[in-house]
Amino acid sequence: MKVITAIIRPFKLDDVREALAEVGVTGLTVTEVKGFGRQKGHSEIYRGAEYVVDLIPKIKLEAIVTDALCEAALESIINAARTGKIGDGKLFVTDASEVVRIRTAEVGADAV
Ligand SMILES: Nc1ncnc2c1ncn2[C@@H]1O[C@H](COP(=O)(O)OP(=O)(O)OP(=O)(O)O)[C@@H](O)[C@H]1O
Ligand SMILES: [Mg+2]
Repeated sequence: MKVITAIIRPFKLDDVREALAEVGVTGLTVTEVKGFGRQKGHSEIYRGAEYVVDLIPKIKLEAIVTDALCEAALESIINAARTGKIGDGKLFVTDASEVVRIRTAEVGADAV
């Protein structure tokens, strides 16, 4: 099992959600976050306003997926979240050593 974490532009959330649903991702956790990347100290446009501060609002999205689904999920996030401009975000994958559905105590792929 893998955990995909993606930091994306807030306005891209709906597109990314739909794209993930299409490839079979069944659950998501979404958090409002702030951050910066390589251009720290430079401004970035967010909702038409230029941010001179270096912490830009972003959405952090976490999805637990089976190994088999991981590549398709990554591809769908990249396609849906990309604008080609600076600040499109970051994506990383970590191993999940255990996944449990609390209601049923199912584990692993059955718990996703
Ligand atoms: N090295 C990092 N560690 C943790 N979070 C990061 C890192 N780089 C970027 N982020 C997060 O991702 C968000 C978007 O980063 P961003 O897309 O600007 O990355 P970048 O490397 O500067 O790429 P680009 O040159 O396309 O802007 C940041 O606001 C921050 O929340
Ligand atoms: Mg950047």
